[in-house]
Amino acid sequence: MDLKLKNKTALITGSTKGIGKAIAIALAREGVHVLINGRDQESVENTVLEIKNKFPDTCPQNAKANLLDRIEREAVINTYPDIDILVNNVGIYEMMDYKDVDEEVLEKYIQTNFAVANSLTKFYLYKMLERNVGRVMFIASEEAVMPSGLMPQYAITKSMLLSLAKSLSKLTTGKDVTVNTIMPGPTLSENVKQIIEEMFQDKDMDFLDKEARFMKENLAHSELQRFIRPDEIGRLTAFLCSPYAGAFKGSPIRMDGGIVPTII
Ligand SMILES: NC(=O)c1ccc[n+]([C@@H]2O[C@H](COP(=O)([O-])OP(=O)(O)OC[C@H]3O[C@@H](n4cnc5c(N)ncnc54)[C@H](OP(=O)(O)O)[C@@H]3O)[C@@H](O)[C@H]2O)c1
Repeated sequence: MDLKLKNKTALITGSTKGIGKAIAIALAREGVHVLINGRDQESVENTVLEIKNKFPDTCPQNAKANLLDRIEREAVINTYPDIDILVNNVGIYEMMDYKDVDEEVLEKYIQTNFAVANSLTKFYLYKMLERNVGRVMFIASEEAVMPSGLMPQYAITKSMLLSLAKSLSKLTTGKDVTVNTIMPGPTLSENVKQIIEEMFQDKDMDFLDKEARFMKENLAHSELQRFIRPDEIGRLTAFLCSPYAGAFKGSPIRMDGGIVPTII
């Protein structure tokens, strides 16, 4: 299916690996010129090259920046002031006991997982509204609606994104601009894969067996019983960025492998 995204431009934050990179690839497959972001210059350059080689009709570009740094963030905005799609993907996560969530930790999580997305959206959304076309996506998590208690500092920042998306969606009334949130469940980014490999490093098992055992022992409530592949989130995001998805307005969209037990 042609998603009618050819020659659009998209900034995907944190797109040198994991879910962000998969989203960039899924968009580039549709002919989107993707702006690749991450803090590491070499990873950004390699990702740009990889996407250019795979999709030579597109023009991926380098948007290297530590988005936590206001000056670096503004440099990205100044270099690429006009985009059609903004995917706010950057996010940090780790398991943490609430007693260790001090003010410094909380500040770091709120800045990285919420304030960066808020700041970029504040700039790009109004430009999209002026042009009456655009897509803003937030990548949250199932933790936004179902905090496990294992990472409270993370869950609150993901709930904040849901609230922001709905507030901002009100600004899009009557316009072909959408603001939506995807809530992925546990997804096999490189980081997650490494964690699983390390957990079973003394076992002579292939990765699929390790994955199955991890799911059974730790995520028995997942109906999928495997990690979601980043590519699955990528393809969903590409669809939601397409003109066919204009009726999604301020929606929290679950691709969580059935881990959230509620009806909606
Ligand atoms: N993996 C999961 O199971 C899962 C589940 C639900 C939701 N999510 C959400 O999905 C998003 C992506 O997760 P992931 O697992 O794919 O992450 P990841 O593998 O850790 O990738 C993070 C990306 O962000 C970049 N990055 C990190 N800090 C940055 C900063 N300050 N400025 C610019 N770039 C930065 C990293 O590159 P550099 O290190 O070079 O900067 C990398 O490209 C996050 O928001 C996460 O909360 C993940």
